[in-house]
Amino acid sequence: MKHIVALVFTALAAALGSAAAQTFPSRPITINVPFAAGGPSDAIARVLGERMRQTLGQPFLIENVVGAGGSTAVGRAVRAAPDGYTISFGHLGTHVFNGAIYPLQYDLLADLDPLILLPSNPMVIVSKNALPAKDLRELIGWPNANQDKATAGTAGAGSGAHIAAVYLQNLTGLRFALVPYRGTGPALTDLVAGQIDLIVDQASNSMQQIRAGSIRAYAVSDKKRLAAAPDIPTVDEAGLPGFHMTLWNALWVPKGTPKDVIAKLNAAAMEALADPAVSKRLNDLGLEIPPREQQTPETLGAWHKAEAAKWWPIIKAAGIKPE
Ligand code: MLT
Repeated sequence: MKHIVALVFTALAAALGSAAAQTFPSRPITINVPFAAGGPSDAIARVLGERMRQTLGQPFLIENVVGAGGSTAVGRAVRAAPDGYTISFGHLGTHVFNGAIYPLQYDLLADLDPLILLPSNPMVIVSKNALPAKDLRELIGWPNANQDKATAGTAGAGSGAHIAAVYLQNLTGLRFALVPYRGTGPALTDLVAGQIDLIVDQASNSMQQIRAGSIRAYAVSDKKRLAAAPDIPTVDEAGLPGFHMTLWNALWVPKGTPKDVIAKLNAAAMEALADPAVSKRLNDLGLEIPPREQQTPETLGAWHKAEAAKWWPIIKAAGIKPE
């Protein structure tokens, strides 16, 4: 008897679940962004959310939840109802590096379901215009005296800008103080104003200021130049061979979100990335859209696991601690 009751309930839950999926979405969807408004993560989430609204007929609200290198925001997404109405935006930092830095109250690989891999971008070494160094070799050779006062903006321990800055220090011996911001959006504002000296920033964040000539770009952390900014040399060309780092972005949902809801959200996100107006906007910022066959939830799941296995030993060995 008990067995039959259990069967009925499971069937009922499944029926209710797929009924919910059929009417999904029936209210606004929130994308939880782990850094401040105006930064690179926020920019991608807003472009995507606006285009997904057109497909799914419900507004996509952006909630900027800052703190602890993005781990506060991810924790909030993990605890959200698994109903498709909360999406966790993140990247290599928030959903991989942080797992080796913070004593997280959640499991980055087990407590979230993958939704879609999003565009990636290399990092670019940028400085305020007033800095004397004209190219990367001059920057690396920057006199020690100045280095003791030098500052580089980050978005907190574990953020892309933080790990990239530590990596640059380790590779070059350059010394500068790391100044944490709520995101690289506000950090860039201070760089333009000359309040800080450097950022190893996501290309998409600095692109407009580089084009406007209000900051100086030294090199991109990739083997190939950026199609969106072909004048910026690669690190290999500029005298820092091997300083390669690309920050990939992605979307996840709370563990247990119905498969058909995930399928609907994934389809809307794929449609957004395939939209010529959206892809032009993202490409112009230096973002590279992954090929369509890599935009499935399963591909992100496998990639996420592989990146964690690769980076956790490296980050742990580097002894990087929460600020
Ligand atoms: C941001 O949106 O501020 C960035 O993604 C922060 C970072 O990880 O560098």
